[in-house]
Amino acid sequence: MTTQTAGTDLLGRDFLSLADLSPDQLRCLLDRAAQLKEWQAEGQPHPLLSGLSLAMLFEKASLRTRTTFMVGMSQLGGFAVDLMNEHTQIGVRESIPDIARNLERWVDALMARVYAHSTLEELAAWADIPVINGLSDLTHPCQALADLLTVREHLGNLAGRRLAYVGDGFNVCNSLLFGGALTGMNVRVASPVGYEPDDDILERAQEIAEDGGGSIEIGNDPAAAVEGAEVVYTDAWVSMGLEDEAAQRREVFASYRVDDDMMSVAAPNAVFLHCLPAHRGEEVTDAVLDGPQSVVFDQAENRLHTQKALLVATMRGDAAFDELGA
Ligand code: CP
Ligand code: NVA
Repeated sequence: MTTQTAGTDLLGRDFLSLADLSPDQLRCLLDRAAQLKEWQAEGQPHPLLSGLSLAMLFEKASLRTRTTFMVGMSQLGGFAVDLMNEHTQIGVRESIPDIARNLERWVDALMARVYAHSTLEELAAWADIPVINGLSDLTHPCQALADLLTVREHLGNLAGRRLAYVGDGFNVCNSLLFGGALTGMNVRVASPVGYEPDDDILERAQEIAEDGGGSIEIGNDPAAAVEGAEVVYTDAWVSMGLEDEAAQRREVFASYRVDDDMMSVAAPNAVFLHCLPAHRGEEVTDAVLDGPQSVVFDQAENRLHTQKALLVATMRGDAAFDELGA
């Protein structure tokens, strides 16, 4: 069974950044996700979103985010509609405010995957329903929820754990910094010079870490970051939208590949995480991705459970969980 905590208090709220949550809210959300995971495994129905609907807008490709939000809504008794951007053509066929003011009349929440983070902020400003960040060029908070649940499951707790992120200081890394800071982890990042995490994100994450007993260090040496780490994490060298930089990035990042040698300096019990999709032979070798320390498919599964918790928290609130005795 999972630990009981106070509520998430997220009813009606947008979820654009993990930094909008307090440590207690985040812990509660992870506890709710673990509860939903148990119910799903036991075959206990949990139609907490019966009659409610989610619109999903994707400016970029997706396997995990699209499938887990859609299946999650179904398991919760609700409905998800994929807006398919070739039809919506956000900002081209119709303005962002107009799209937002239509959607709020039909659906109960909107999840969007976008290029510019400002698109999410504009949608949230105009739509009087919760808007959920399904990835922007700045952050990927839904991914970080799944990452944290996965680490907690495998290592038992988060506070004080040593996490090394090796690679591009982009959206996934930025949200992981917030996640690590909120849960009191000790996070070390190693990125090539010029590819470090966003300055504003880093500043905010460091403030949160100081408040919560965690720490964040940014450097350029992968071996130094990974030494003794209990979690080793990497992401694509060429994120969606950066394809024009692919050749240059493959050169710059060549020494940032997570391979057996790199894993050998981590703690013996270290787990390997990757948000996926993986580019085998680039940021990670087959041997690590398919090896005994890899928990990437547990991590992918946890996208489902953590997002279900988020959907219930934002669309129905904490009272919904009380109905089923959570
Ligand atoms: N990790 C992740 O967000 O996967 P997708 O891009 O497939 O949604
Ligand atoms: N950083 C990657 C994450 C994909 C889930 C990208 O933005 O393409």
